[in-house]
Amino acid sequence: MVACAFSILSVSGRSCFAFRLYPNRLIELGCSRLTMEIHHEELSDVVRYIERRKDEDIRLKEPQFDGILFYLEQFRKIDGSLRMAEVGTGMGWLPTLAKMRGLNCKGIEISPMLVQAGREYGLRYGVEPDLEIGNIETSDLGENVYDVIIANSVFEHVEHWQTGLRTIYRALKPGGIMFFESTNKWSITSGELPPMPCYGWLPNWGRYNLRKVIHGADIMKNGIDFHQFTYGGLRKAFREIGFREAHDRVALFRPERIANPKKRKIAQIAKSNPVARKLVLTFFEVTTFVCVK
Ligand SMILES: C[S@@+](CC[C@H](N)C(=O)[O-])C[C@H]1O[C@@H](n2cnc3c(N)ncnc32)[C@H](O)[C@@H]1O
Repeated sequence: MVACAFSILSVSGRSCFAFRLYPNRLIELGCSRLTMEIHHEELSDVVRYIERRKDEDIRLKEPQFDGILFYLEQFRKIDGSLRMAEVGTGMGWLPTLAKMRGLNCKGIEISPMLVQAGREYGLRYGVEPDLEIGNIETSDLGENVYDVIIANSVFEHVEHWQTGLRTIYRALKPGGIMFFESTNKWSITSGELPPMPCYGWLPNWGRYNLRKVIHGADIMKNGIDFHQFTYGGLRKAFREIGFREAHDRVALFRPERIANPKKRKIAQIAKSNPVARKLVLTFFEVTTFVCVK
């Protein structure tokens, strides 16, 4: 039996009718494909973002940078000979640190204000990061160009995330790798609205309206988490897009490197017990994958 449901999606005051045929088929009727736009005007969430981060010492970002490199290096050696890119660069700390360490990492960022702020941030450390204005939903990153692409805390903000993922897949060389980190729907805590427990559990319309009330309507132009992902949903999407391998956070754990004894024990159990693995992945703070083309 084919179950049908009629749903109305309304984002940023724009409406789109979708006719949903189960299973796994979404046919959009009577609506053009909407994408995010590059906004040249000042957006309040971008202003807040820059204000909070512009004076952050880049050395505080080194552990996060090393963490990403650690995951990537489980699949290939990272050095200056590789072509790398980051999508959604924010303050530009990652391409800046990459350049400081002799790596070759370009940045693609939808916000012109953040591209400018990122260039100024890099200059404070004597580096000119290679940042470019671009929307991952519409930009062409080329085909078989990059060895590594990093998408750190960005895809929750990309309205048509599968389109963006396809662009990344196409841009990677065969055997190229993507680091992906984003929201995890059933996590108790959330980086999007930290004071509110279980924020990600809210339905999309609930989160959008709540954030519009708290942060203003222009949060829908940049800043909203359009998506709360799950490990299962992402794994399926990566497979459908064509990635040969998708390694999740538990697969990437190296318990011997975890300093906290309790967390180390949980990591060890999750690695050997499928039920514990499922529980950890369901409630973990973020979704993390390294995917191989
Ligand atoms: C939460 S910030 C993360 C920044 C950085 N990756 C980090 O880890 O600090 C998300 C960034 O992605 C950018 N972004 C959102 N949608 C985008 C899109 N469609 N294309 C490119 N960048 C996008 C935002 O402007 C913002 O700078």
